[in-house]
Amino acid sequence: MTMSCLVHALSLFESAQAPRTQCSVRLAKPKVLIPPSPSAAFPSSAATGSFFPFEFPEKKRRGAQEMAGLLSKVSRSGSCCRAQKTAAWFPVAVICFVCSYSILDAFTWHPVAVAEAEWRPGRDGQSTVLQKGKGHSESSDKPLVPVRGPFVPQSRRVRFPDHRWRGYPLPALTAQPFGRLGNVMGEYASLWALARIYNVTAFLHPSMKAKLHFFDALSLPEIPGAFVRSEWQDVRKTGSFFAYNYTNIERAAAGLLGPKRFCLKPYPFEIHLFNPFKEELRREFVFPKRVQEKVREILADVQQKWQSANNSTVLPVLVGFHVRRADYVRYAAINFRASLPEDKYFTRALSHYRQKFPNEVAFVVASDDMAFVRQRLGHYPDVFFSSGESAADDMALLSSCNHSIVTMGSYGFWTGFLAGGEVVYPDLHLSRSYRFSRAMYQRANLTNFIPVSAD
Ligand SMILES: *[C@@H]1O[C@H](CO)[C@@H](O)[C@H](O)[C@H]1NC(C)=O
Ligand SMILES: *[C@@H]1O[C@H](CO)[C@@H](O)[C@H](O)[C@H]1NC(C)=O
Ligand SMILES: *[C@@H]1O[C@H](CO)[C@@H](O)[C@H](O)[C@H]1NC(C)=O
Ligand SMILES: *[C@@H]1O[C@H](CO)[C@@H](O)[C@H](O)[C@H]1NC(C)=O
Ligand SMILES: *[C@@H]1O[C@H](CO)[C@@H](O)[C@H](O)[C@H]1NC(C)=O
Ligand SMILES: *[C@@H]1O[C@H](CO)[C@@H](O)[C@H](O)[C@H]1NC(C)=O
Repeated sequence: MTMSCLVHALSLFESAQAPRTQCSVRLAKPKVLIPPSPSAAFPSSAATGSFFPFEFPEKKRRGAQEMAGLLSKVSRSGSCCRAQKTAAWFPVAVICFVCSYSILDAFTWHPVAVAEAEWRPGRDGQSTVLQKGKGHSESSDKPLVPVRGPFVPQSRRVRFPDHRWRGYPLPALTAQPFGRLGNVMGEYASLWALARIYNVTAFLHPSMKAKLHFFDALSLPEIPGAFVRSEWQDVRKTGSFFAYNYTNIERAAAGLLGPKRFCLKPYPFEIHLFNPFKEELRREFVFPKRVQEKVREILADVQQKWQSANNSTVLPVLVGFHVRRADYVRYAAINFRASLPEDKYFTRALSHYRQKFPNEVAFVVASDDMAFVRQRLGHYPDVFFSSGESAADDMALLSSCNHSIVTMGSYGFWTGFLAGGEVVYPDLHLSRSYRFSRAMYQRANLTNFIPVSAD
């Protein structure tokens, strides 16, 4: 039996209640690259004035403790083919060969779901007897939906018709919310997309529902009954915190980790799965009528002001402009050795749209540092500022514009993704891979995302 234990070399957050997975080998001591602010990516409203009133309760930090999350155990049949020191070795070998072949054949090559009886837990109770077929690359057969990933093709998926939990088929996925609005939306969208791609049960965790309460059209069902942390097994992205390797999460969704309940961690944000579901995800993140009406009024007011300033009857195109600042200045410096895009990028991004829509464009700016954006952008007559009552209101405002300009961070990503037009983003030189970077957007086939140099 081979046991391999993958320790996250760099991971920052851990749910306080998460059961510690035992690890027989310590591979690396993690480095903490982000200073222990409650949620490095998203400031609390206390830190940013009252601009973001949605303060999400933060997990207790574990400082520099490792996230010994992923215990990948691959069970191999140790007893069957052991060399027999007997004259009868030949028939035994033949039987073993036939057995192994049929096991491999049954689990690896048949393009149909494997029946429940054929799945057996490994000795540790967690692993599966499914083995990767030699020479059968996981990406070699085409997914049903045109996403980059999913990592587990249709032919290797496993379903368990007889395993149900409170009426729902297993496996089942959920995710406790990490971070603030933009991240939590990403976590929800990841669950939603996995449910669609893998036809797997996915539940809305009650705290996630609380954090996304203003979206009243979320379609994922809530966990039926109480959420008991210990009944859900963690499944994590692997490699470093910045590697964004979701293979294991997708393996769980594909049934390769058994008919269990899984809790996705940390910050599952599978941006590469979103694009084929753009319209559907936009319908998930629909704001209540009341908010939509208010937004319509604000935008009509912007257009009117622009018209009177221009002495024009043209209705200007609306470009939402989100500027992430606050704690992200430090976050970007420490983790990506980058400074946030400023004036040069702002000028280029604005002129991109001014050239595209000559004398017909108005910009609507929101930020977690309104003083900064007013100072930097206040002198442009075609720039208007959000009055910024809440993160959700600003999301509603920016995502109702026709096109977008974003800087860094998940919040900006969602404003652009939901607005649905062009999204100008800064093409930054970063010291490591970043979720909202050119490489990732291209991989995600987000062809409406336009890189603009920030140098
Ligand atoms: C990428 O997206 C474009 C539309 O934006 C679509 O036509 C194309 O098929 C997609 N390609 C892949 C490989 O998903
Ligand atoms: C999805 O799963 C459900 C329940 O397991 C099953 O009834 C249904 O046929 C599946 N749909 C597809 C398209 O495979
Ligand atoms: C992603 O993680 C899986 C599981 O740990 C590993 O097998 C695979 O090689 C990783 N992929 C990359 C590109 O690192
Ligand atoms: C606005 O347009 C009207 C009619 O075209 C013109 O008489 C007036 O001078 C213009 N005002 C300004 C400030 O350009
Ligand atoms: C329209 O107004 C914007 C500022 O509101 C200005 O930049 C632009 O030059 C004006 N265009 C015309 C034709 O007056
Ligand atoms: C631009 O956005 C506004 C506000 O949401 C909307 O009323 C208008 O129809 C949009 N224009 C286009 C061309 O989509």
